[in-house]
Amino acid sequence: MSGASEGRILGGWLAPHPPHLVYAENPPQNEPRSSGGWEMLRWAYDECRAKLKAQRPDVIIVHSPHWQTTVGHDVLAVPKLQGLSVDPIFPHLFRYKFDLQVDVDLAESISEEARALGLTSKPMANPAFRVDYGTITSLHMMNPDWDIPMVGISANNSPYFHDPKTAQDEMIKLGEATRIAIQKSGKRAVLAASNSLSHLHFSAEPNPALPEDMSREHVFSHAQYEWDVRVINLLRAGKIFELMNILPDFMEEAVAEVKAGSLMWMLSAMEFPQLPAKLHGYGNVIGTGNAVMEWDLTEMHSRGTGSTQL
Ligand SMILES: [Fe+2]
Repeated sequence: MSGASEGRILGGWLAPHPPHLVYAENPPQNEPRSSGGWEMLRWAYDECRAKLKAQRPDVIIVHSPHWQTTVGHDVLAVPKLQGLSVDPIFPHLFRYKFDLQVDVDLAESISEEARALGLTSKPMANPAFRVDYGTITSLHMMNPDWDIPMVGISANNSPYFHDPKTAQDEMIKLGEATRIAIQKSGKRAVLAASNSLSHLHFSAEPNPALPEDMSREHVFSHAQYEWDVRVINLLRAGKIFELMNILPDFMEEAVAEVKAGSLMWMLSAMEFPQLPAKLHGYGNVIGTGNAVMEWDLTEMHSRGTGSTQL
C-alpha cells in the first residue's frame, strides 16, 4: 500500500504509569480519593492531552510492562472491555472502573504481522479480561476522555529470563510489526511506551496516612537520578545510538523499567528517529524516576530529519 491511504505514526510518548498519578487526579472511575500530589508529572501529561486533542489520532497503541505474557506477545482484541482494574501493589490507590474501545482490526493486524516476522503472538479475545493498571494509567493520563480507540500490547517477560539483547531484539521486531500494520491500516496512530526510567523504589510508603505527602517524595538515590539524567539527555539530543549502547547498563544498574521492552518497541516502530525528544516533565514516585517525553514525527518529516535502521 502506498500514497495518501498509507497509515502513519504521528508520534510517540514515554508515558509512565505509576498508579499514584491517577489517584492524584481523582477521576470518577477511580474509587480512592486524594488531595493531589505528583503535579510535575501530571502537568506534563496536560501537554500530552492538549497535543492529542489537536492531532485527533485514530488510535493510541500502548505497550505495558504490567500485562505480562510468558509466551509471546498478545494484543487486546475485544471491541469493548469493561471491568474493575486493581493495582496489586497499591490497591488502596488504584481501583479503576475501565471502559475501553479497542481497534480490533488493527490489533489483529499487529498480531498477524508479528507472526509474519517470526514472533509468537495472538489476539487476546477474552471479553472478561481484566486490563492491567499500566495500560489504564498511561491511557487515562494521556486521554482521560477515553474518546480515542486503543490497542494494548503485552510485555513478554522474556527480558527477565534471557539475556537482554535477545529479549530486546524481539521488541524491535514487535515494533516493526506494529509499524507495518499501521501503514497497512491507513490510520493515524500515536504510540505510548508505558515505562518508568529508574525503578528502585522505597520498600514502604513514607507516609501511609497521606500517600500524596510530597515532603516525603524524592529520588531513590543520587546514582539513580544520575542515570535518569543521562538517559533523558541522550533522548533530548536524539542520540539513539548512544542510548542503545548504554541501555543494558541502565537496565542493570537502575533496574530500569524499560527492560520490559516498551521503549524499545516504540523506538523500533518509529524507526529509531534521530530526533530530539521533548521532555515535558520529570518526577519521582515512591522513589522511581519518571519522564513524560514526546517524539513528534510530524516535526521530523517537516524538518527532513532521518530515521535509523539498527
Ligand atoms: Fe510499573
